[in-house]
Amino acid sequence: MATQVEDKFMAMNVEAATRFRTFQPTAMTITKESSCRIFCRRFFICILLVAVVALSSIVYAVYSYASNLSDVCHTKECLRSAAAFKQNMNLQADPCEDFYSYVCGNWADDHPRPARHGAYSWYDERQTKIYRNIRIQLEANVTRSDPKPVAQAKSMYKACLSEANRERYGFTAVQSYLKEFGLPLTPTLLNRTKTSARKYKFDWISSVAKIQRKLGLNVIVGFNIEQDHQDKNRNRLTLEYHYRPDELRFPAYEWSKLKAKAHGRRPVAVRSSSQDTDESDNESAEEEEEKDGEDDEDEIDTTELAESFARVIEAINPSIDTSGMDEKMNVLAERFAEFHRSLPKPLNSEDESEPEYYTVKQLQNATDHHIKPKKSYPVWQRYLDVLFANQPDAKPSDDEQLQMTPENVEFLGKLIDVVSDQPPALIELYVWGTVASFLVDHEFNDATLEEECAQVVHKLMGLAVSYAIADKSFLERTKPRVEQMLTDIRDEFDQMVLETDWMDAYTKYASLEKSKAMKSLIGFPEWILDDQKLEEHYAGLEISPTRHLENWVTALEFMNTGWLRSWKVKNNEVWDMDPTEVNAYNIFDRNAINIPVAIIQYPFYYLGLDALNYGALGEVLGHELTHGFDNAGRHYDKFGNEKRWWSNHTLQEYDKRAQCLEEQYSSYYVPEAKAFINGTLTLGENIADNGGLREAFRAYRAYVKRNGPEPVLPGFENFSHEQLLFISFGNQYCESISPAVAKYLVEDEHSPSKYRVLGVLSNMPEFSEAFQCPSGSKMNPKKKCRVW
Ligand SMILES: *[C@@H]1O[C@H](CO)[C@@H](O)[C@H](O)[C@H]1NC(C)=O
Ligand SMILES: *[C@@H]1O[C@H](CO)[C@@H](O)[C@H](O)[C@H]1NC(C)=O
Ligand SMILES: *[C@@H]1O[C@H](CO)[C@@H](O)[C@H](O)[C@H]1NC(C)=O
Ligand SMILES: *[C@@H]1O[C@H](CO)[C@@H](O)[C@H](O)[C@H]1NC(C)=O
Ligand SMILES: *[C@@H]1O[C@H](CO)[C@@H](O)[C@H](O)[C@H]1NC(C)=O
Ligand SMILES: *[C@@H]1O[C@H](CO)[C@@H](O)[C@H](O)[C@H]1NC(C)=O
Ligand SMILES: *[C@@H]1O[C@H](CO)[C@@H](O)[C@H](O)[C@H]1NC(C)=O
Ligand SMILES: [Zn+2]
Repeated sequence: MATQVEDKFMAMNVEAATRFRTFQPTAMTITKESSCRIFCRRFFICILLVAVVALSSIVYAVYSYASNLSDVCHTKECLRSAAAFKQNMNLQADPCEDFYSYVCGNWADDHPRPARHGAYSWYDERQTKIYRNIRIQLEANVTRSDPKPVAQAKSMYKACLSEANRERYGFTAVQSYLKEFGLPLTPTLLNRTKTSARKYKFDWISSVAKIQRKLGLNVIVGFNIEQDHQDKNRNRLTLEYHYRPDELRFPAYEWSKLKAKAHGRRPVAVRSSSQDTDESDNESAEEEEEKDGEDDEDEIDTTELAESFARVIEAINPSIDTSGMDEKMNVLAERFAEFHRSLPKPLNSEDESEPEYYTVKQLQNATDHHIKPKKSYPVWQRYLDVLFANQPDAKPSDDEQLQMTPENVEFLGKLIDVVSDQPPALIELYVWGTVASFLVDHEFNDATLEEECAQVVHKLMGLAVSYAIADKSFLERTKPRVEQMLTDIRDEFDQMVLETDWMDAYTKYASLEKSKAMKSLIGFPEWILDDQKLEEHYAGLEISPTRHLENWVTALEFMNTGWLRSWKVKNNEVWDMDPTEVNAYNIFDRNAINIPVAIIQYPFYYLGLDALNYGALGEVLGHELTHGFDNAGRHYDKFGNEKRWWSNHTLQEYDKRAQCLEEQYSSYYVPEAKAFINGTLTLGENIADNGGLREAFRAYRAYVKRNGPEPVLPGFENFSHEQLLFISFGNQYCESISPAVAKYLVEDEHSPSKYRVLGVLSNMPEFSEAFQCPSGSKMNPKKKCRVW
C-alpha cells in the first residue's frame, strides 16, 4: 500500500518536471528583454546612422539573442538543479559571512526530517530512495528472465512478510537449531540444583564453534580473519574478544572496512527508534547489553533480563507457561549476568601492539596454565576443528600460524581462567541465552514492515539486489565520465604535490607513485550483470518461499562459509562496500577508493552542468583520493602496506600545516552540541575535505580549458560557473539535525556538515575571489590553512 502512494509521488514529480518544461518560453522572454535593453541603448546612440546600419543591427540583435539562448542550459537536469538550489538557498544570508546558511538556509523546510532520523541530509534522503527502489524490485513478481538469485531474493522477501508462516514454523525451527548447537530447549539450570549442575557435562567449545560456523555470531570467543601485518598478500586467522560481528559481511570480506575512511558521517539516529526494532529492547536485553559494549556492560538490568528469559522460553516451548516461574527466571537472570560480568573485558584496542604469530599448539601452551583444575585439554584446536568441519580443505594445518596481538593472547588466557572454573550448566545458560534470543528475536520481532524485510534481504543477498537495480547504461555512459573526472582530479593532486615547496623530491616522488597506483572501484562489480556469474556466486544457496527463519540462517551460513573459505585467498579487486550505500570509502590497506553507484546520483551527480558535478561528486572523489595522504592514510604506501615513506623533514612540515587545520577546526563552537569541534579527532577528514575541493575546483578549470565554457544555469544567469561549483559543494552538505542527537555531532570523525562547508571555503582564496568576499570577513579570514 505504502508503495503505491509513493509511486504516485514519483508520477507527480514527472508532472512537475513537464510543467517546468512549459516554463521555458517565459525564461526566453526574460533573456530577450534583458538583451534588448542593452541593444536598444546602443541603437539609441547610433540613431544617426543610416537605416541600413540600423537594420543590420537588428539582424545582429536577433542573431545574438539566438546564440544567447543556446547559452542557457534547459535540460531536465539543469532545471532541476536550478529549482532545487533556489528553493534551498537563503539569498538573504550573506555568502561572505555564512555560506552554509546562504546555500542551505531553507533546506530543512523543504526536506522534512522523518521522526526516526536524528539527522537528515541529502545522504539519508537518497538512501531512503534507494531502499524504496529495492523494495519495489522485491515486490515485483518473479519473471522468467530473472536469474535464480534474483528470484530467490524475491522469495526471501515474501517469506519474511508472512507473519502467519513465521508463527507456524518459527518455534520448531528455533528448536532444531538449538539441538544442532548441542543446546537443550530450556536451560539446564532451570531444573537443577547447584550441586547437580556441577556434574552436568556441556561441550561449550563445540557449541560456540558451531554457532560461529552457522550464524557468524561470536559467543565467548571471537574469531576473525585479518590481513597479515607483514605480508599484505595473505590473510591470517585470529582469535580475540567476542565482539558482536556485523552479522553480515559484504560480500565476503570485512576486515578492510576497519581501515577504511568513509566520506559521509555514519548515520546518527535517535537511539530508541534506531536500534533494530523497538521490540528488541524487550526481547533481548542481554544482547543489547553486549552490543552496547564496553562501558555499561556491568549494568545488565536483571529484571528485564528475567522477562526476556520467560518470553524466549515460551517462544521456543509453546507448552511451557512461565507465569508462575518469576523466581526461577530471576535466578536465571542473576546467574547469566554474573557470568557475563566474570568474563574478561576487551583490552584497549586504541593502540594495539604489533601482532605476533602463534601456531595453535603454541597458543594452547600460552593459555594452558590458566586451565583449572590444572589438567590440560585442547581448546583452540578443537574450536578450529569444529569451525572448519564442513570445509576440510580450508581448515588451517597444524603448523599454520595465527596472528595474535599480545592483548588477545592475554584475553584468551583470562577467558580460560574464568570458563574452566565455572559449572558447565552456567556456561550453557550463557550460550543458550545469547543464541536463543538471537534467533527468537529475529523470528518473532514483528518486523513485517515491508521496509524491514527489504533491508533483511538486502543485507543477505546484497549482490542479487544490486543486480536488480544496476543498470547497463551506467557502465556504458556514466562510468567512463566519472573515471575521467577522477583522472582530472588525480592530475590536479599530482600537480599540487609538484607545486609544494615543503616536500623534498623523494617524498614527492613517492606521493606521485601512490596516487598513480591508487585503484578505484566505481559503481558496482561489473560481473553481477552476467547472469551466469551471479548464479555461480550464489550456487548452493537454497531459499524457501515460506520459511523465514530458515532462509535467514541459511543465508547467514552461506555468507559465513564463503568468508571462512576466503582466508586463503587474497583478492584486491573485491568490493567491500555495498553498491547501494550512499557513501564513498578509501581503503587504506589496499590503496583503493570505492565509489558505489548509489552516490553517483542527484544531487551529487547528474546535476546538468559539470561545474555542479565537479563541486559535488568531484569533491567526493577528491576527498577519497586525499584520504590516502591524510594524517592516517599517509602511513600506508602505494601497496597498502604500513610503512614509513616520508622523509623526516617533509613530515615536520606536514605536521606544521596539519596543526594549522587542527587549530582552525578546534575553534569552531557548535552551539547545538554545546561544544567545540575536536580538531584532532576530525583532522583526517578535514585534510581530505580541504584537499578534495581544491582538486575538484582546479580539475574543473582544466576541464573548461579542454572543453570550452559551459552554458549558464537558468535563474542563475548572473552567477559564474565557479560560484555555481561552490554552491553545489555547499548544497550536498545541507541537513537538519534534531536537538536530541546534536551532542553526537562532535563525536564523529567528520566535522558537522555546516563546518565542513565553512572550514573548507574559508581556506580557499578562490572562493573569496568568486564571491568577492572582503578580506577579514568570516569566509575570508586573513589566516588560511592548507595541507594539500
Ligand atoms: C503478481 O502475480 C499475482 C498472481 O499471479 C497477481 O495477482 C499480481 O497482480 C501480480 N503482481 C504484479 C505487480 O504484477
Ligand atoms: C525443565 O523444566 C521445564 C519446565 O518445568 C520442563 O518443561 C522441562 O521438561 C524440564 N526439563 C527437564 C530436562 O527436565
Ligand atoms: C516492553 O514491554 C513492556 C511490558 O511488557 C511494554 O509496556 C513496553 O511497551 C515494551 N517496550 C517496547 C519498546 O516494546
Ligand atoms: C610453553 O610455554 C612455556 C612458557 O609458558 C615455554 O617455556 C615452553 O617452551 C613452551 N613450550 C612449547 C612446546 O612451546
Ligand atoms: C627520522 O625520525 C625518526 C623518528 O623520530 C628517527 O628514528 C630516524 O632516525 C630519523 N631519520 C633520519 C634520517 O633522521
Ligand atoms: C579529541 O580527540 C582526540 C583523538 O580522538 C582525543 O585524544 C582527545 O581527548 C579529544 N579531545 C577532547 C577535548 O575531547
Ligand atoms: C545576481 O542578481 C541578483 C539580482 O539582481 C542579485 O541579488 C545577486 O546578488 C546577483 N548574484 C551575484 C552572484 O552576483
Ligand atoms: Zn572521509
